Amino acid sequence: MAFGVHVTVRGCSPSVPMWMRVAALLLLGAMPDCIKASCEQYNKETYFNPIDGRNYTLYGSSYVTGGCVRNFTIAKDTCEKDGLELAPQAEPESRFSLRKLCSVGRRVTCWLDGVPPGEPTTQCYLMSQEGDIYAQGCEQLVRFVCRNKKITKPPLDDTLSLSTNGYDYVLYTRDATMLKSHSGAAQFCQNLGSGWDLVPYWESSSNAWAVMMELCAANGYTCWCKRDPAVDVYRCPLIGQDGTLQMQGCDQDVRFVCRRAWDE
Ligand SMILES: *[C@@H]1O[C@H](CO)[C@@H](O)[C@H](O)[C@H]1NC(C)=O
Ligand SMILES: *[C@@H]1O[C@H](CO)[C@@H](O)[C@H](O)[C@H]1NC(C)=O
Repeated sequence: MAFGVHVTVRGCSPSVPMWMRVAALLLLGAMPDCIKASCEQYNKETYFNPIDGRNYTLYGSSYVTGGCVRNFTIAKDTCEKDGLELAPQAEPESRFSLRKLCSVGRRVTCWLDGVPPGEPTTQCYLMSQEGDIYAQGCEQLVRFVCRNKKITKPPLDDTLSLSTNGYDYVLYTRDATMLKSHSGAAQFCQNLGSGWDLVPYWESSSNAWAVMMELCAANGYTCWCKRDPAVDVYRCPLIGQDGTLQMQGCDQDVRFVCRRAWDE
Protein backbone atom coordinates (compact mmCIF):
# COMPACT_ATOMS: atom_id res chain seq x y z
CA MET A 1 0.00 0.00 0.00
CA ALA A 2 2.82 2.37 0.89
CA PHE A 3 4.38 1.67 -2.48
CA GLY A 4 1.03 2.26 -4.18
CA VAL A 5 0.72 5.64 -2.52
CA HIS A 6 4.17 6.63 -3.60
CA VAL A 7 3.56 5.73 -7.21
CA THR A 8 0.10 7.11 -7.64
CA VAL A 9 0.45 10.51 -5.98
CA ARG A 10 3.23 11.47 -8.38
CA GLY A 11 0.73 11.67 -11.20
CA CYS A 12 -1.62 14.10 -9.48
CA SER A 13 -2.20 17.61 -10.61
CA PRO A 14 0.36 19.87 -8.92
CA SER A 15 -2.47 22.15 -7.88
CA VAL A 16 -3.31 19.70 -5.07
CA PRO A 17 -0.46 19.65 -2.52
CA MET A 18 0.99 16.21 -1.98
CA TRP A 19 0.34 16.20 1.77
CA MET A 20 -3.35 16.71 1.07
CA ARG A 21 -3.44 13.80 -1.31
CA VAL A 22 -1.57 11.53 1.05
CA ALA A 23 -3.85 12.66 3.89
CA ALA A 24 -6.90 11.90 1.80
CA LEU A 25 -5.63 8.41 1.19
CA LEU A 26 -4.51 7.64 4.72
CA LEU A 27 -7.23 9.33 6.75
CA LEU A 28 -10.27 9.02 4.57
CA GLY A 29 -9.30 5.95 2.59
CA ALA A 30 -10.55 7.87 -0.41
CA MET A 31 -8.99 7.88 -3.84
CA PRO A 32 -8.87 11.45 -5.07
CA ASP A 33 -9.88 11.85 -8.71
CA CYS A 34 -6.38 12.72 -9.80
CA ILE A 35 -5.12 9.31 -8.76
CA LYS A 36 -7.72 7.48 -10.76
CA ALA A 37 -6.59 9.31 -13.89
CA SER A 38 -2.85 9.37 -13.20
CA CYS A 39 -0.91 8.92 -16.43
CA GLU A 40 1.80 6.89 -14.70
CA GLN A 41 -0.70 4.10 -14.24
CA TYR A 42 -1.31 3.57 -17.92
CA ASN A 43 0.84 2.07 -20.62
CA LYS A 44 3.06 4.29 -22.63
CA GLU A 45 4.08 3.48 -26.14
CA THR A 46 7.20 4.93 -27.72
CA TYR A 47 7.96 5.38 -31.39
CA PHE A 48 11.52 6.20 -32.39
CA ASN A 49 11.47 8.47 -35.44
CA PRO A 50 14.67 7.79 -37.39
CA ILE A 51 14.43 11.04 -39.39
CA ASP A 52 14.56 13.50 -36.49
CA GLY A 53 16.14 11.01 -34.08
CA ARG A 54 13.62 11.56 -31.30
CA ASN A 55 11.50 9.27 -29.19
CA TYR A 56 7.78 10.07 -29.25
CA THR A 57 5.77 8.65 -26.36
CA LEU A 58 2.01 8.28 -26.27
CA TYR A 59 0.71 8.45 -22.72
CA GLY A 60 -2.05 5.98 -21.92
CA SER A 61 -1.71 3.96 -25.11
CA SER A 62 -3.74 0.89 -24.21
CA TYR A 63 -6.38 2.38 -21.98
CA VAL A 64 -9.57 2.27 -23.99
CA THR A 65 -12.04 4.64 -22.36
CA GLY A 66 -11.16 7.68 -20.30
CA GLY A 67 -7.79 7.04 -18.73
CA CYS A 68 -4.92 9.28 -19.51
CA VAL A 69 -6.74 12.14 -21.16
CA ARG A 70 -5.85 15.72 -20.34
CA ASN A 71 -6.71 19.25 -21.33
CA PHE A 72 -4.02 21.02 -23.34
CA THR A 73 -2.42 22.85 -20.42
CA ILE A 74 -2.10 19.76 -18.25
CA ALA A 75 -0.84 17.68 -21.20
CA LYS A 76 1.92 20.23 -21.82
CA ASP A 77 2.78 20.37 -18.10
CA THR A 78 2.90 16.57 -17.87
CA CYS A 79 5.48 16.41 -20.67
CA GLU A 80 7.56 19.16 -19.02
CA LYS A 81 7.37 17.44 -15.67
CA ASP A 82 8.86 14.32 -17.28
CA GLY A 83 11.66 16.38 -18.86
CA LEU A 84 10.02 16.13 -22.29
CA GLU A 85 8.08 18.44 -24.58
CA LEU A 86 4.60 18.16 -26.08
CA ALA A 87 5.07 17.12 -29.73
CA PRO A 88 4.56 20.23 -31.90
CA GLN A 89 2.18 20.79 -34.80
CA ALA A 90 4.73 22.74 -36.85
CA GLU A 91 7.14 19.89 -37.66
CA PRO A 92 6.26 17.25 -40.27
CA GLU A 93 8.21 14.57 -38.40
CA SER A 94 6.22 15.32 -35.27
CA ARG A 95 2.92 14.97 -37.15
CA PHE A 96 4.22 11.82 -38.82
CA SER A 97 5.04 10.33 -35.41
CA LEU A 98 1.60 11.18 -34.03
CA ARG A 99 -0.02 9.41 -36.94
CA LYS A 100 1.94 6.28 -36.03
CA LEU A 101 0.97 6.53 -32.36
CA CYS A 102 -2.47 8.13 -32.30
CA SER A 103 -4.53 8.02 -35.47
CA VAL A 104 -3.39 5.06 -37.58
CA GLY A 105 -4.54 1.79 -36.03
CA ARG A 106 -5.28 3.12 -32.56
CA ARG A 107 -7.66 5.86 -33.68
CA VAL A 108 -7.29 8.14 -30.68
CA THR A 109 -7.27 11.93 -30.65
CA CYS A 110 -4.06 13.69 -29.52
CA TRP A 111 -2.93 17.24 -28.70
CA LEU A 112 -0.14 18.98 -30.60
CA ASP A 113 1.82 21.94 -29.27
CA GLY A 114 1.60 25.36 -30.90
CA VAL A 115 -0.78 28.28 -31.15
CA PRO A 116 -3.12 28.31 -34.16
CA PRO A 117 -2.67 31.61 -36.06
CA GLY A 118 -5.54 34.05 -35.88
CA GLU A 119 -7.47 31.89 -33.45
CA PRO A 120 -8.62 32.94 -30.02
CA THR A 121 -6.19 31.62 -27.41
CA THR A 122 -8.79 29.11 -26.27
CA GLN A 123 -8.08 27.05 -29.41
CA CYS A 124 -5.33 24.42 -29.58
CA TYR A 125 -4.10 21.97 -32.23
CA LEU A 126 -5.55 18.49 -32.13
CA MET A 127 -5.03 15.50 -34.41
CA SER A 128 -8.28 13.70 -35.09
CA GLN A 129 -8.74 9.93 -35.18
CA GLU A 130 -8.41 10.18 -38.96
CA GLY A 131 -5.09 12.05 -38.75
CA ASP A 132 -6.37 15.50 -39.75
CA ILE A 133 -5.35 18.50 -37.67
CA TYR A 134 -7.87 21.00 -36.35
CA ALA A 135 -7.90 23.93 -33.95
CA GLN A 136 -10.25 23.01 -31.11
CA GLY A 137 -11.13 24.08 -27.59
CA CYS A 138 -8.09 23.61 -25.31
CA GLU A 139 -10.25 22.39 -22.44
CA GLN A 140 -11.13 19.07 -24.07
CA LEU A 141 -9.73 15.92 -22.51
CA VAL A 142 -7.69 13.94 -25.04
CA ARG A 143 -4.46 11.96 -25.19
CA PHE A 144 -1.07 13.45 -25.93
CA VAL A 145 2.43 12.59 -27.10
CA CYS A 146 5.62 13.84 -25.46
CA ARG A 147 8.99 13.75 -27.18
CA ASN A 148 12.50 14.22 -25.92
CA LYS A 149 13.96 17.71 -26.15
CA LYS A 150 17.06 18.40 -28.14
CA ILE A 151 19.87 20.62 -27.04
CA THR A 152 20.56 21.73 -30.59
CA LYS A 153 17.45 23.27 -32.12
CA PRO A 154 16.93 22.87 -35.87
CA PRO A 155 17.38 26.17 -37.75
CA LEU A 156 14.17 28.13 -37.64
CA ASP A 157 12.43 28.10 -40.97
CA ASP A 158 9.26 30.05 -41.28
CA THR A 159 7.02 27.40 -42.77
CA LEU A 160 3.26 26.93 -43.01
CA SER A 161 1.88 23.43 -42.60
CA LEU A 162 -1.35 21.69 -43.39
CA SER A 163 -2.44 18.07 -43.02
CA THR A 164 -5.42 16.85 -44.97
CA ASN A 165 -6.76 13.98 -47.09
CA GLY A 166 -3.86 11.67 -46.33
CA TYR A 167 -1.02 14.14 -46.95
CA ASP A 168 1.23 16.48 -45.02
CA TYR A 169 1.99 19.76 -46.78
CA VAL A 170 4.71 22.28 -45.92
CA LEU A 171 5.09 25.70 -47.53
CA TYR A 172 8.61 27.21 -47.74
CA THR A 173 8.78 29.92 -46.53
CA ARG A 174 6.54 32.67 -45.29
CA ASP A 175 9.44 35.04 -44.75
CA ALA A 176 10.78 34.29 -48.25
CA THR A 177 14.24 33.29 -47.02
CA MET A 178 14.00 30.15 -49.12
CA LEU A 179 12.95 30.92 -52.67
CA LYS A 180 14.13 28.44 -55.27
CA SER A 181 14.15 27.70 -58.99
CA HIS A 182 11.77 24.92 -60.00
CA SER A 183 14.47 22.24 -60.08
CA GLY A 184 15.93 23.56 -56.80
CA ALA A 185 12.51 23.33 -55.16
CA ALA A 186 11.92 19.80 -56.44
CA GLN A 187 15.35 18.75 -55.18
CA PHE A 188 14.74 20.36 -51.79
CA CYS A 189 11.46 18.45 -51.33
CA GLN A 190 12.99 15.12 -52.39
CA ASN A 191 15.89 15.68 -49.98
CA LEU A 192 13.43 15.84 -47.07
CA GLY A 193 13.22 12.07 -47.28
CA SER A 194 11.39 9.21 -48.90
CA GLY A 195 7.97 10.15 -50.29
CA TRP A 196 8.48 13.94 -50.25
CA ASP A 197 7.90 15.87 -53.49
CA LEU A 198 6.31 18.98 -54.97
CA VAL A 199 2.50 18.96 -55.21
CA PRO A 200 0.89 17.63 -58.42
CA TYR A 201 -1.54 20.37 -59.44
CA TRP A 202 -3.58 17.94 -61.53
CA GLU A 203 -4.37 15.47 -58.73
CA SER A 204 -8.05 15.68 -57.86
CA SER A 205 -8.21 12.58 -55.59
CA SER A 206 -6.32 14.37 -52.81
CA ASN A 207 -7.81 17.79 -53.56
CA ALA A 208 -4.23 19.05 -53.94
CA TRP A 209 -5.18 22.26 -55.73
CA ALA A 210 -7.41 23.37 -52.85
CA VAL A 211 -4.42 23.00 -50.53
CA MET A 212 -2.26 25.13 -52.83
CA MET A 213 -5.04 27.71 -52.81
CA GLU A 214 -5.11 27.73 -49.02
CA LEU A 215 -1.35 27.76 -48.37
CA CYS A 216 -0.27 29.97 -51.28
CA ALA A 217 -2.93 32.05 -53.05
CA ALA A 218 -4.93 32.84 -49.91
CA ASN A 219 -1.75 34.30 -48.36
CA GLY A 220 -0.81 36.18 -51.52
CA TYR A 221 2.05 33.79 -52.35
CA THR A 222 3.11 32.38 -55.68
CA CYS A 223 4.30 28.74 -55.37
CA TRP A 224 5.82 26.12 -57.63
CA CYS A 225 3.82 22.94 -58.29
CA LYS A 226 5.10 19.58 -59.47
CA ARG A 227 5.85 19.32 -63.16
CA ASP A 228 4.02 16.83 -65.33
CA PRO A 229 6.93 15.75 -67.54
CA ALA A 230 4.62 14.74 -70.38
CA VAL A 231 3.00 18.19 -70.59
CA ASP A 232 5.22 20.81 -68.96
CA VAL A 233 8.23 20.48 -71.22
CA TYR A 234 9.73 23.96 -71.42
CA ARG A 235 7.80 25.80 -68.74
CA CYS A 236 7.07 25.11 -65.12
CA PRO A 237 3.71 25.16 -63.32
CA LEU A 238 3.00 27.55 -60.49
CA ILE A 239 -0.04 28.82 -58.66
CA GLY A 240 -0.28 32.61 -58.95
CA GLN A 241 -1.27 34.99 -56.19
CA ASP A 242 -4.67 35.13 -57.85
CA GLY A 243 -5.09 31.36 -57.58
CA THR A 244 -4.66 30.58 -61.27
CA LEU A 245 -2.40 27.88 -62.72
CA GLN A 246 0.37 29.44 -64.79
CA MET A 247 3.20 28.02 -66.87
CA GLN A 248 6.32 30.11 -66.46
CA GLY A 249 10.08 30.11 -66.88
CA CYS A 250 11.63 27.52 -64.56
CA ASP A 251 14.60 29.59 -63.35
CA GLN A 252 12.72 32.15 -61.25
CA ASP A 253 13.12 32.01 -57.50
CA VAL A 254 9.69 31.25 -56.05
CA ARG A 255 8.12 29.79 -52.89
CA PHE A 256 7.06 26.14 -53.07
CA VAL A 257 5.10 23.47 -51.21
CA CYS A 258 6.37 19.96 -50.43
CA ARG A 259 4.13 17.09 -49.43
CA ARG A 260 4.31 13.49 -48.32
CA ALA A 261 1.61 10.85 -47.92
CA TRP A 262 0.87 9.92 -44.29
CA ASP A 263 1.56 6.26 -44.93
CA GLU A 264 4.93 6.74 -46.66
C1 LIG B 1 14.83 6.23 -27.40
O1 LIG B 1 14.38 5.14 -26.64
C2 LIG B 1 15.24 4.01 -26.71
C3 LIG B 1 14.56 2.87 -25.99
O2 LIG B 1 14.14 3.25 -24.71
C4 LIG B 1 16.60 4.38 -26.13
O3 LIG B 1 17.47 3.29 -26.21
C5 LIG B 1 17.16 5.56 -26.90
O4 LIG B 1 18.37 6.00 -26.31
C6 LIG B 1 16.18 6.71 -26.93
N1 LIG B 1 16.68 7.74 -27.83
C7 LIG B 1 16.60 9.05 -27.54
C8 LIG B 1 17.14 9.97 -28.56
O5 LIG B 1 16.12 9.46 -26.49
C1 LIG C 1 -7.11 22.29 -17.38
O1 LIG C 1 -7.36 21.57 -16.20
C2 LIG C 1 -6.88 22.23 -15.04
C3 LIG C 1 -7.06 21.26 -13.87
O2 LIG C 1 -8.31 20.66 -13.89
C4 LIG C 1 -7.63 23.55 -14.85
O3 LIG C 1 -7.15 24.22 -13.72
C5 LIG C 1 -7.39 24.43 -16.10
O4 LIG C 1 -8.14 25.60 -16.02
C6 LIG C 1 -7.76 23.65 -17.35
N1 LIG C 1 -7.35 24.43 -18.50
C7 LIG C 1 -8.09 24.52 -19.60
C8 LIG C 1 -7.55 25.33 -20.69
O5 LIG C 1 -9.17 23.98 -19.70
